[in-house]
Amino acid sequence: MKEIYNDLPVGKQQEFMRNFFETKSFIQEKFGADSLNLEENFYTKQLRNYFDSTIKKRLNIGFDKLENIHKSVDDQLTSYDFDYGINGITKALYDMDEEFVSIYHDFIKNWIGKNIADGRKFWFQKTPTIRVHCPGANSKTVYPAYHNDTFLGHHPYELNIWIPLTYLGNEGHGFDLMDVNESKEILKPYDFDIFKYYAEVRNHSSQAFKVTSEKAKPVTTEFGQILLFDVRSLHSTMPMHQQTRVSMDVRIIFDEDKNNHPFAHTGLGRMKTPFEPGAYYHEKAVQNSSFA
Ligand SMILES: [Fe+2]
Repeated sequence: MKEIYNDLPVGKQQEFMRNFFETKSFIQEKFGADSLNLEENFYTKQLRNYFDSTIKKRLNIGFDKLENIHKSVDDQLTSYDFDYGINGITKALYDMDEEFVSIYHDFIKNWIGKNIADGRKFWFQKTPTIRVHCPGANSKTVYPAYHNDTFLGHHPYELNIWIPLTYLGNEGHGFDLMDVNESKEILKPYDFDIFKYYAEVRNHSSQAFKVTSEKAKPVTTEFGQILLFDVRSLHSTMPMHQQTRVSMDVRIIFDEDKNNHPFAHTGLGRMKTPFEPGAYYHEKAVQNSSFA
């Protein structure tokens, strides 16, 4: 049994993070960048159509396009929970039906299998995160909340895949990101004590917030593209003012990276979800475009 990372003394966690920021990730090796946009026109269209009809059906509302959902719902549905950053529309989409599972699994097996994994066996997030991010409500008090997913307990060898299902309007997607080196420089003064940094940066009048918001830049991923980014990169949802952003984010991890890593990881939420197959990850791995 591997030692649980969250149970390590803070000093050991800091030591891990300090070293981890010195390594070269799979994305850096393969693509020569910390983040990049990849073209994908088939699944993004299917997903957009699926959410268009499913949101209408489940919330019993009408709208002309996804970018305008906020005009058809009241504040109660769009306002965020401070700790988890989720709203009522997102909650209404928690249950995945067969139609969704079929599109999602095809996407994972065919697109990720071919374009990212290069025949390597990988595990994928069982239930992808769907976000319906609306203007107004209380989003300004909750966002930005700069972090990388290891702050939430995620496995450090995950790859982040972020898919906009709405068009990049004048306002962008309300999602800011920075590169690995900038993230490293920001965490250095905290000696990679990510919890100390996270507590500080959520206070919008702190120095941490000021420094971080100067570095983070809006992503420019168009609808019809997929953003792939390094797990170490700090990022945040940003408040939107004019349009709604719908996006899906998915994490994958190579079997080999998971096996070679000395620690086991669990979520920091109430459920302490293990980052393991059959829990956070789907029970089946994927290799060469099929379930392994
Ligand atoms: Fe995140």
